[in-house]
Amino acid sequence: MSNIQFDYSKALGFIDERAVLGLQEKINSNFEAIYQKTGKGNDFLGWVDLPSKTDESLLKDIENTAATLREKSEVCVVVGIGGSYLGARAVIEALSPSFNLLKKKLGNPVMLYAGHNISEDYLTQLLQVLNEKEYSIIVISKSGTTTEPALAFRLLRDHLEKKYGAEEAATRIVAITDKARGALKQLATEKGYRTFVVPDDVGGRYSVLTPVGLLPIAVAGFDIRKLVEGARQMEAFVKEDYSIEKNPVSAYAAVRNVLYNSGKAVEIMVNYEPNLYFFTEWWKQLYGESEGKENKGIFPAGVSNTTDLHSMGQYIQEGVRNLFETVVSVENPDNTLLVPEDADNLDKLNYLAGKRINEVNKMAELGTTLAHVDGGVPNLRVSMPAVNESVLGELIYFYEMACAVSGYLLEVNPFDQPGVEAYKRNMFALLGKPGFEAETDAIRKRLD
Ligand code: PA5
Repeated sequence: MSNIQFDYSKALGFIDERAVLGLQEKINSNFEAIYQKTGKGNDFLGWVDLPSKTDESLLKDIENTAATLREKSEVCVVVGIGGSYLGARAVIEALSPSFNLLKKKLGNPVMLYAGHNISEDYLTQLLQVLNEKEYSIIVISKSGTTTEPALAFRLLRDHLEKKYGAEEAATRIVAITDKARGALKQLATEKGYRTFVVPDDVGGRYSVLTPVGLLPIAVAGFDIRKLVEGARQMEAFVKEDYSIEKNPVSAYAAVRNVLYNSGKAVEIMVNYEPNLYFFTEWWKQLYGESEGKENKGIFPAGVSNTTDLHSMGQYIQEGVRNLFETVVSVENPDNTLLVPEDADNLDKLNYLAGKRINEVNKMAELGTTLAHVDGGVPNLRVSMPAVNESVLGELIYFYEMACAVSGYLLEVNPFDQPGVEAYKRNMFALLGKPGFEAETDAIRKRLD
């Protein structure tokens, strides 16, 4: 059974459903290529059965390590970028209260993030915060050589060692990296840090259900067993029947492919719950890095409504008609809040008195969907009953599998990211990194 429902009825005014159903055979062979490991990038399919293969000893180990870090830390800094950062943040933010003051009341460490930018101001301010706090660090890099997290970690390690001394600092650092290779692995071994392994066959953006996501999520105080259990449920469900009528992964992959081939090159993920903002960021990275190559791919964008109805809403309603939307809709919020009656009714809101805020939100969602469809924007809807660990586990697996199936429909390798190297080469050349002498000469000539 799946708690994730997918509805594409509001895209059918734009595409022929026969084209969607006509993709069934391709979808079947894409699933087979994924399960049999015969498609492009087949050495990066470790995420496919990861939920069912995650064993008790790993979960226990992560929970014990998380408990040790929680005991020592008012703040835990997660250092990583891309797939080594966004999954953990997406889940933690989705499950956390919106306000720092409420977060504090729960007694969990405050989770802060570094290594996902190179901002001098951001890093300076982070160190200022850490001067005042008891803290620990989880540093995550599969390759162990990515510049942004390596640089942030160097600064943080220096700060931590000065604050606690090298011996205590080493007990406050956990490294998650390759089992044998990379500068981070070497550093961790030499300094004696606790380490977890990113499996060889799981790429960064598919790694949220490995220690990369699970350790920070556990430190933040959330139930990683329920998260993994939800993903297991979706893993089993998705395998049962590939048919587009029954399987939300097949339907989502097929519809977005038909929309793309009809000229809809931009997909906007829409949420109506602000705590899903980073889930959208995770999805953007997963789909953007997986599909955007060989001059192909849907451009993934995101909006948070109703906030963005007062900014991007204008463009979505009337701008270039190359868009479609996928609303991620939460049926039941955790809380109930009613609009109060007001005797004076000066704000003219008494017509809403007694209604739940969520009912107003849902009508905003429905009204927007209909308006955008009328304006030429096909609408897809992914709905879930609530935001909790188990449903998020299902949702994560749903999007991972749909991304792989979609990538194969586009005939690209959804598991590599060759394009990410271009900026790195230029940056290394500009900074004069040893080994890049020829590139440094060439780039300097371009700038003369
Ligand atoms: O999805 C990916 O593979 C990338 O986004 C990586 O996660 C990102 O580049 C960080 O790489 P690393 O974990 O090697 O530091």
